[in-house]
Amino acid sequence: MKRSLLFLLTVLLLASCGRSSVKPAADPARAANFNKSYPIVDSLLKVMTLEEKIGQTVLYTSDWDVTGPSIRAGYVDDIRAGKCGNIFNAYTADYTRRLQEIAVNETRLGIPLLFGYDVIHGFRTIFPINLGISASWDPELIEQSARIAAREAAAAGLHWTYSPMCDICVEPRWGRISEGAGEDAFLGSAVARAMVHGYQGADLEDTLTIAACVKHFAAYGAPHAGRDYNTVDMSERWLREFYLPPYKAAVDAGAQTVMASFNEYDGTPATANAHLLTEILRDEWGFDGFVVSDYTGVMEMVNHGTSADLSDASIQALNAGNDMDMQSGGYSEFLKKAVEEGKVSRKTLDEAVRRILTVKARLGLFEDPFKYCSREREAALTKTDENLATALELAQESCVLLKNHHDILPLRQGSSVAVIGPLANSADDLLGTWRGAGQVDGVKSILDAIAEHAGHVYYAPGCDVSKPGQKGFDEAEYTARRASTVVMVLGEPCDWTGEAASRTSIKLPGEQTELLKRIAATGQPIVLVLLNGRPLDLSEESLLADAVLEAWYPGTMGGEAVANLLFGEASPSGRLSVTFPRNLGQVPIYYGAKNTGRPYVNIGAKYESRYLDCPNEPLYPFGYGLTYTTFSYGKPVLSSDGFGPGGSITARATVTNTGSRSGTEVVQLYLRDMLGSVTRPLKMLRGFERVTLEPGESREVEFTITEKELSFWRKDMTFGAEAGEFRVFIAGDSCAEDFVTFTYND
Ligand code: NOJ
Repeated sequence: MKRSLLFLLTVLLLASCGRSSVKPAADPARAANFNKSYPIVDSLLKVMTLEEKIGQTVLYTSDWDVTGPSIRAGYVDDIRAGKCGNIFNAYTADYTRRLQEIAVNETRLGIPLLFGYDVIHGFRTIFPINLGISASWDPELIEQSARIAAREAAAAGLHWTYSPMCDICVEPRWGRISEGAGEDAFLGSAVARAMVHGYQGADLEDTLTIAACVKHFAAYGAPHAGRDYNTVDMSERWLREFYLPPYKAAVDAGAQTVMASFNEYDGTPATANAHLLTEILRDEWGFDGFVVSDYTGVMEMVNHGTSADLSDASIQALNAGNDMDMQSGGYSEFLKKAVEEGKVSRKTLDEAVRRILTVKARLGLFEDPFKYCSREREAALTKTDENLATALELAQESCVLLKNHHDILPLRQGSSVAVIGPLANSADDLLGTWRGAGQVDGVKSILDAIAEHAGHVYYAPGCDVSKPGQKGFDEAEYTARRASTVVMVLGEPCDWTGEAASRTSIKLPGEQTELLKRIAATGQPIVLVLLNGRPLDLSEESLLADAVLEAWYPGTMGGEAVANLLFGEASPSGRLSVTFPRNLGQVPIYYGAKNTGRPYVNIGAKYESRYLDCPNEPLYPFGYGLTYTTFSYGKPVLSSDGFGPGGSITARATVTNTGSRSGTEVVQLYLRDMLGSVTRPLKMLRGFERVTLEPGESREVEFTITEKELSFWRKDMTFGAEAGEFRVFIAGDSCAEDFVTFTYND
């Protein structure tokens, strides 16, 4: 037996006197070992050298070559020397085992490596991009997708995903709006919670679960002008009310790690922002996992102009509560001297190391460092029929039907279809940005999937997705005339969304709108299917097409999902989780706006909060989406006139399927606080439920409202409800007008 393994076993034996529970789990039913402390960690801290401790705070990426994984020689040496305790971008059971063997068998203490990876919307089985997932308004299915992602990833030797991305965003220019759950803190919190539960399950030691990472902390989704990595500035009140809740929901759900964001907040880069990383995250929220910087986030503090050099940046970051350095190399190079000179206290370093080792212990890595590397599980759990079936279901639920003039959809099975557009025959774009280890083999394009339903299919790309040129227009026009219906698949190339993919226009790129105009001129009925990762300006397209289906980037099973929806084998049930503006000039536009002192009520009046050249209303509001049927709502009914602290009220409404097909409605509860010590939004989402109804069927949907649903950051920055009148809206989107009123008495 190797010396280091023997040592580790001895430490384990000494530590096996039991694990102490430090405080109750945020979600006790699920969080079995999420907040335990482990005596082995104390034992290790007593025997680790300063260098070994610093090694645990270091995270490096591995490299891959074309025929398989390999790592840079330097990293192997670092692992062997105990100078690098964590690796990302390395996966497969074999590869992670090989690296783990070095850490466990060839280092003095044999501390296992932690393997991280960006498992963002699936690992091998790719689900829709996160903005799409959130449009399902189905936390249960979202949780299931994260569970599948965790299983596939864990079987490939991974322990840790850099997800969920909890950044609220009202900025469609920002490419990373595609990675989040949209504009709303309540929906965003539900999605964040579901993802953490899905990844981490009930027990982190389970070889089918992985640790979650809440990112990007904080407010990364609000960069000025939508330019990635740009400055963020907002009031503390705005931050707490509209941006922090999803991060907190994820932390409360037991997330083990948090990633500091690239941006500054209140003049200090998040990487070294003690207010965010220590005061809010640890002191207020009780987070006891570890914080990792984003990629070279520590180094970038020099560019931010708040650190003189990498040494200074490393000292500031660790002291502020950033425990692990991703890829900057600063902790590795400078922390030893900083500790020796007293610029970082031994206690601060020990705390960081303790948090990192504790997460390793919670994952069960000290008991069996190789438990996640299983060729058998990797083969058995990857892209199973069950996984693919869930991917199909979630893709179908994520698509949002924005328009369906004269019920042109669903199409008749066996009818002839002209499929036109540069994205129609692309399997690759369906996977979207951050597709993990997902591969395009076996992914069916929308064209191929439509061919399985249609009688005859004719196809022409028409133009390039982003480059100028109308050479293909004639062929596309001829193709359009050959079939009874035209399905056009347009959008953004998938690498136009995600990180470092900001745009100054939110129109369809290239000549796609011109192509649509040319096809529309034929008079043929047009169904427009969109693949994109941000709210687009569809003001022209929505007039030219008879039906519009927003499919985002729907993942591995996206082709089948779109075809099933088009031909009525599945019914659209998605609802927008983000507002679609009429044009970029309306941005930022979001349903939870404030009333202002001059609300726009007298149409035509000059001195009101409005535009001269465009209505205030968006093209498609938050919560909006059509189905193949129609629903009516009865007036909400309240259980009483009001309530006080500790009490509650129920709000009920009867929803009826008034159409001739079965359909799923997302019933949404909105509240408005009519008087506050500070201004309040016109509407706040406070509940939702997916309800499937047969034609003619009615269902009473009930929501309970407590003090929690009314609470906000008051004038004095305490969190709570204030006495007064509240309006209750229950409807199918955020434009609801009918309301009933109750009073909250404090
Ligand atoms: C940078 C991205 O901002 C972050 O989301 C990601 O997890 C890391 N790179 C690691 O790949």
